[in-house]
Amino acid sequence: MAVLAGLGAGGALFAAGRGDARGVSFSRDVQPIFDAKCAVCHPASFEYLDLRPGRSYAELVRVASVLRPAYELVLPGRPELSFLLTHVPDPSREELLTGAEEALIGRWIAEGARDN
Ligand code: HEC
Repeated sequence: MAVLAGLGAGGALFAAGRGDARGVSFSRDVQPIFDAKCAVCHPASFEYLDLRPGRSYAELVRVASVLRPAYELVLPGRPELSFLLTHVPDPSREELLTGAEEALIGRWIAEGARDN
């Protein structure tokens, strides 16, 4: 049920204009997710990844993962290979991102992970 609720919220998000015909915007759509849910720990708890505004893009796109160096955190055009999305954090944080947020980040990567 939680998954279904998440998808419903996603529909509302897209209807509100996020990720519209111009595509997903890193600064307008993606960074606010990091601000709300990730920057409290990154870099404070995990210094190798800084997700604060102005730093996150350079820390993610085409940068090798520290935990799994064979993967890049964000591989433009390939959300299914981007460790940012495939990395499962510890179980207590499994639901940190809603389905809608994951879908939005996935679309941003699929559209080339632009710094827009
Ligand atoms: C409660 C603190 C905390 C929060 C909140 C948190 N993280 Fe993390 N994150 C960590 C820690 C600690 C690690 C390293 C160990 C691990 O994977 O659990 C990590 C590792 C990662 C890695 C792997 C980095 C690498 O180079 O291999 C990614 C990617 C990541 N986090 C993304 C996120 C994103 C995106 C969010 C927000 C949705 C987030 N984290 C929220 C603590 C956190």
